[in-house]
Amino acid sequence: MSAESQAKIILDGKEHAFPVITGTESEKAIDVRKLRNETGYITYDDGYGNTGSCQSQISFIDGEKGILRHRGIPIEQLAERSTFLCTAYLIIYGELPKAAELDKFRAKIAAASNLHEDFRHHFQGFPPSSHPMAVQSSMLSALGCYYPKMSSNDREQDLEYFDDAAALLISKVRTIAAMTYRMRKGLPFNYPRRDLRYVENFLHLMFTEPYAEYVPSPEVSKALDLFFLLHADHEQNCSTSTVRMVASGGANLFASVAAGVSALWGPLHGGANSAVVRMLEQIHASGDDGSQFIEDAKNGKARLMGFGHRVYKNYDPRAKIFGKAAESVMKALGLDDPLLDIARKLEQAALSDDYFVERKLYPNVDFYSGIVLKAIGIPTDMFTVMFAIGRMPGWIANWKEVAETSKRIHRPRQIYIGPNQRDYVSLDKRG
Ligand code: CMC
Repeated sequence: MSAESQAKIILDGKEHAFPVITGTESEKAIDVRKLRNETGYITYDDGYGNTGSCQSQISFIDGEKGILRHRGIPIEQLAERSTFLCTAYLIIYGELPKAAELDKFRAKIAAASNLHEDFRHHFQGFPPSSHPMAVQSSMLSALGCYYPKMSSNDREQDLEYFDDAAALLISKVRTIAAMTYRMRKGLPFNYPRRDLRYVENFLHLMFTEPYAEYVPSPEVSKALDLFFLLHADHEQNCSTSTVRMVASGGANLFASVAAGVSALWGPLHGGANSAVVRMLEQIHASGDDGSQFIEDAKNGKARLMGFGHRVYKNYDPRAKIFGKAAESVMKALGLDDPLLDIARKLEQAALSDDYFVERKLYPNVDFYSGIVLKAIGIPTDMFTVMFAIGRMPGWIANWKEVAETSKRIHRPRQIYIGPNQRDYVSLDKRG
């Protein structure tokens, strides 16, 4: 970051100058940190579309060009040449791991895969109809209670135990997800296997039955690893900003990522992947080929889920990668899902329609990911839980960045538009 030029602002006839700062990719910002002290004014930016909430070294997005890089490395190269755990290491620690470092990281994650037996009782305490995101957020919070040394809310101590806590969360979030699936179906829980890799172990925890071990095809394992990798981090999105916000108050890593899960749940954020499949199923059931739905979306009667993005005004590069992966995994599994055809038609129609072109609405990561998860056998209401497993490294890296570099609690201001001062009216006089 460098400070070279100034931005001038005239308020009530007086000129004030503020430094302009530039990021390593030439992104420019007006540094308004002294604005209120100097002028009494604050900035107003509903939805934070023009606000840089932090300086970060983790991920870079150029939404106009459709670029996403983690620690400088393009997502396309990671998708083609890396794995989820290798990418997780890069995101958390800033460099690609050397072979020995990756082995150690993997071993730490494998060793942490089991949950304390008491968790069975926690799961039994939830009704089978519980939404898996509610269970996941609760369980991640509960997990901190089992590791008090790692979740002390004493910043120095939490950082001292950071490596253990990070590996533990990446590992156990997957075990929690699988146990939630089995609890809701009334199936016996599986124990993790140390001999399996991250994704295969997850599929074993999910789908192995007492009478039959589940062995995934290489295509399924690869597609799921790619899904996790593509979700591993994404700059200051709603859930990551939430994690940073919670962390800024000094809260431990477990509490912060549990809050991230809650933020992710909504349909405008991580909930969009299941909303896409529900939308495609509705279109299919109604006999529409997608054209009526496009009209409804243009008239504000419907929203084309999996389309549009606050930052990308071009193709989300993750959607391009996953669009191709969807095709090949379906082929490999010998599946012919009519939803994929409808998705392709919707994409073509939207890309040539003025409404979508003018608003620069392109497919985002969620547009094809649901189709792939469905093909793997993941139920629709678990899709956002899958997103959370993938996003865990990003949340962890952002928590670490806040814990290591930021001393200030995040505390935005507001413009109050409620009533002016008025007197309390006693109950008998409230007409
Ligand atoms: N279908 C139809 N119209 C849309 C859509 C859509 N999916 N997205 C945006 N628009 C329209 C919107 O109505 C508005 O039109 P107008 O200017 O006429 O009022 C214009 O495009 C700008 O939209 P916006 O709502 O101001 O954009 P935003 O930056 O606030 O919202 C978004 C971004 C992702 C919430 C939104 O595009 C959306 O709701 N998309 C569908 C949900 C979705 O797929 N979310 C996943 C995002 S990617 C995963 C993640 O990072 O979490």
